[in-house]
Amino acid sequence: MIRDFYDIDLSGRNSFHVRQRAARLVEFETTDDLTAFFRKGAPAKWTVLAGGNNILFTQDFDGVLLTPRAASIDVVAETPDAVAETPDAVAVRAEAGVEWDDLVAWAVERDLWGIENLSLIPGKVGAAPVQNIGAYGAEAKDAIESVEMFCTDTCNTLILSREHCAFGYRESVFKHALRGRVVITAVTFRLSRRPRPDLGYGDLLRETEARGGATLRNIREAVCAIRRSKLPDTAVLGNAGSFFKNPVVEAAVAERLRTDYPALPLYPAAKGRMKLAAGWLIEQAGMKGHREGCVGVHDRQALVLVNYGGATGSEVLALAHKVQEAVRAKFGVEIAAEVNVL
Ligand code: EPU
Repeated sequence: MIRDFYDIDLSGRNSFHVRQRAARLVEFETTDDLTAFFRKGAPAKWTVLAGGNNILFTQDFDGVLLTPRAASIDVVAETPDAVAETPDAVAVRAEAGVEWDDLVAWAVERDLWGIENLSLIPGKVGAAPVQNIGAYGAEAKDAIESVEMFCTDTCNTLILSREHCAFGYRESVFKHALRGRVVITAVTFRLSRRPRPDLGYGDLLRETEARGGATLRNIREAVCAIRRSKLPDTAVLGNAGSFFKNPVVEAAVAERLRTDYPALPLYPAAKGRMKLAAGWLIEQAGMKGHREGCVGVHDRQALVLVNYGGATGSEVLALAHKVQEAVRAKFGVEIAAEVNVL
């Protein structure tokens, strides 16, 4: 069933808590709801607003926001081929409106491995493939089997297998060719009954050992503890997680920077390129903890911009530009926003 809201305040629906409004917001549950909505053609301006955790409204939205509400999680009875080939695997289908961390908790409770490193990432399941959310050495793409999407032109539902999602670092086909053409309604994950701990990132091994070793529950607790120690809680302080992506540069550029800055953290990326830690660049550019009125760069994680209360989206964006400029001036490197700016 559709729930329709007009001229709605969005401050409780975006994790930056900026006070913009939308002309209309439609909460939907089923594909029939979407069919009823798109049957007469798409409105001139629309987009999906799921958890609002990766979006910055810099003005009122004069179109329609679509919000998924369906939130069931099921072990899929008919397992996809890839699952049949690997007997330890379990296919789990989650609807777009499931809170991401509820899915992780659900999987951990059932001893299903594969998404525990992604514990406590704010957002809805439907947004996970768009951003290809990632943390602690894991990315959603590693566990995604397929994505169900409603095509707004045809009002059909199609299932896109993971190979066709063009997943990359915080990238997917949903941000490009399919942007504005589909609404994700559910995601099927391939999880595993066999333990597959992946503790190679940062402090994760140490924090897991400190809890008694690599059980699913210990890993989840360790990830949650590390995240809580570094990242501000959106319920307390408006933010959207990492505001910037870590920049990926040619190896020669990384080598040149490493010569000048031996402490620069570098990670191998696809196609022989190197990923730089934007948080480190921002900190070295002197912007960590920098505050201007109601907005600031978080003092424990420089990738995160925060709203101390009462900020507008434009103020956050102005600070983001300043941070980008500081990094450009010191290192000659561009850092792009990860957050979707509207
Ligand atoms: N660093 C600094 N100063 C900072 C922040 C980081 O020097 O203020 C250095 C760290 O010391 C480390 C390196 O930068 O050497 C990387 O830092 P960290 O491991 O904390 O991860 P990140 O690159 O800053 C990424 C994701 C996070 C994710 C963490 C952990 C992106 C854009 N961000 O951050 O994701 O939680 O790794 O895996 O890739 C998000 O997307 O919203 C998010 C929070």
